[in-house]
Amino acid sequence: MSAPKKLFIKTYGCQMNVYDSERMAEQLGGEGYVRTETAEDADMILLNTCHIREKAAEKVYSELGRFRPLKEAKPDLKIGVAGCVAQAEGAEIMARQPMVDLVVGPQSYHRLPELERKARSGEKALDTDFPEEDKFDHLASRPKAARGPTAFLTVQEGCDKFCAFCVVPYTRGAEVSRPAERVMSEARDLVERGVREITLLGQNVNAYHGHEGGLAGLIRDLAEIDGLERIRFTTSHPNDMDDALIAAHGEVGKLMPYLHLPVQSGSDRILKAMNRKHTAEQYVRLIERIRAARPDILLSGDFIVGFPGETDADFADTMSLIETIGYGQAYSFKYSARPGTPAAEREEVAEDVKDARLQELQALLTRQQREVQDAMLGREVRVLFEKPGRLPGQMVGKSEYLHAVHVHTDGVSAGDILPVRIVASNSNSLAGEI
Ligand code: SAH
Ligand code: SF4
Ligand code: F3S
Repeated sequence: MSAPKKLFIKTYGCQMNVYDSERMAEQLGGEGYVRTETAEDADMILLNTCHIREKAAEKVYSELGRFRPLKEAKPDLKIGVAGCVAQAEGAEIMARQPMVDLVVGPQSYHRLPELERKARSGEKALDTDFPEEDKFDHLASRPKAARGPTAFLTVQEGCDKFCAFCVVPYTRGAEVSRPAERVMSEARDLVERGVREITLLGQNVNAYHGHEGGLAGLIRDLAEIDGLERIRFTTSHPNDMDDALIAAHGEVGKLMPYLHLPVQSGSDRILKAMNRKHTAEQYVRLIERIRAARPDILLSGDFIVGFPGETDADFADTMSLIETIGYGQAYSFKYSARPGTPAAEREEVAEDVKDARLQELQALLTRQQREVQDAMLGREVRVLFEKPGRLPGQMVGKSEYLHAVHVHTDGVSAGDILPVRIVASNSNSLAGEI
């Protein structure tokens, strides 16, 4: 038998890409590839890319440039681009960077084995279709190897919301949900392999309709799986937070008290221009209902500053919305015009204004995040331990609230869930004692 070929995958962007990278590696596993952690010894390099902001997309080309010497030293090395840049730019990638052998979009990576063979035979291989068939029906079944205690599971893909700034509806296509029974069997399989926490993924995961009870119905069924201890989901749109899902937060013990619910802006004028289809007030009322169901829930959000037309008054509305809600975690970005989206046609806010607003917003969010963390001091949380920490004798895991918690201890293994008393709050993590 010939030695296995080595596959190096670099993943950018959201968690869905992390999941997709795993599945692509499994696909190529059938073609005799094993994963490697360094590009230098790879026979195939795959960049699983993100197109969400200009910087993310540009990274791909600078990364490809870095691989040039590798390709020169080893002409047999195949280089592929997958993910959302592949979908958005397709053949243009090969025109701009001729050493790329293979381009595959997020909806067609079940065809990777075919594409790989084509690339091996010296041809250029490109597939950015939105095929009729469901890729999940055609992916290799997942290998039975043991794995770590946490896993992502994609249940829904694509988006029909068309926020004016966003490329996702174009790169991931229309919203599609996987049938609940498929999700259940994949979840059972993960649990048999050692997984104790599953994060359900979707660009709009709470629009999931593969179960008659929606996402809440799926979560209730998953909660019945013995050995599965924790369920999370991301990312949600405020307009799809229905009563059943809010109730599940209060009633399903395995559903963790953490919710990522992006609002983007606190100004009704800007929300309208963004095509978000709700007001700031509606968002605040929604959060009140969620907190009534699960008072200790930790809220996380996404914000964009400097959307076209955003004035100082609009920005002030965003700051005051943040003050009203109180976030335990948040991601914030300067608006980045994306080709093909409606907002890209509009006049941009000056870069220095965007910079100043981002700084101010992040200072507030960091302060809130720190306050929420500090409030954990002295409290007991339950930690799902994932791996050794950087210091000897240290283990790291996550609390219910998704805070990273470090503990000095012997005799704790990855996969253990144990009560921990929080004794210190550091800049990005907590420290605790068993
Ligand atoms: N489906 C998710 C978001 C996916 S993109 C949702 O609807 O919430 C993740 C985040 O990137 C978005 O929430 C938004 O805050 C940010 N983002 C998306 N497009 C952007 C753009 N053109 N410029 C800046 N930030 C953007
Ligand atoms: Fe993008 Fe809006 Fe869809 Fe989220 S809901 S993926 S921000 S279009
Ligand atoms: Fe990026 Fe595509 Fe995810 S654009 S954020 S990798 S869906």
